[in-house]
Amino acid sequence: MSVTPDRAADGANRRQFFLAGVVALGVSVTGFVASTLRFLVPNVLYEPPGRFTIGNPADFPPGSVTFLEDRRLFVFNTAEGFYGVSSVCTHLGCNVKRGGPGFQCPCHGSQFDDSGRVARGPAPTPLAWYALSLSARGELVVDVDRTVGPDFRLRV
Ligand code: FES
Repeated sequence: MSVTPDRAADGANRRQFFLAGVVALGVSVTGFVASTLRFLVPNVLYEPPGRFTIGNPADFPPGSVTFLEDRRLFVFNTAEGFYGVSSVCTHLGCNVKRGGPGFQCPCHGSQFDDSGRVARGPAPTPLAWYALSLSARGELVVDVDRTVGPDFRLRV
């Protein structure tokens, strides 16, 4: 039995069509499996820990105000002790600046007094004060998950 050229060409076309179908099916199945596996991975935003050390008390000279930009935190070392005030404006989250008495927000003009209380809006609430403590190694530890009142001082 012999195969005529037309029938051979039809067979080749069928094989190519079948192969293209297999490739398309493989791509579809791979995409489906990949999207299913991606769905199983939780979409979590990892945040930095709420407690962190900022250095030895001696790193903060007496009477100083140190701005830790990466932590968005002012650290005060006063005669009464250490305290930490958030630099995050309670309006829309800009960094407030120290200047004159208190803090000023450059974004929309909010002003806060030395204790972080709102002196002029639109900020709705005071700046946060964070708990400070000493680690076992004598380093200053800030806990941004724990707020304290403006009378808080850490004596070292
Ligand atoms: S972000 Fe500070 S006043 Fe708007």
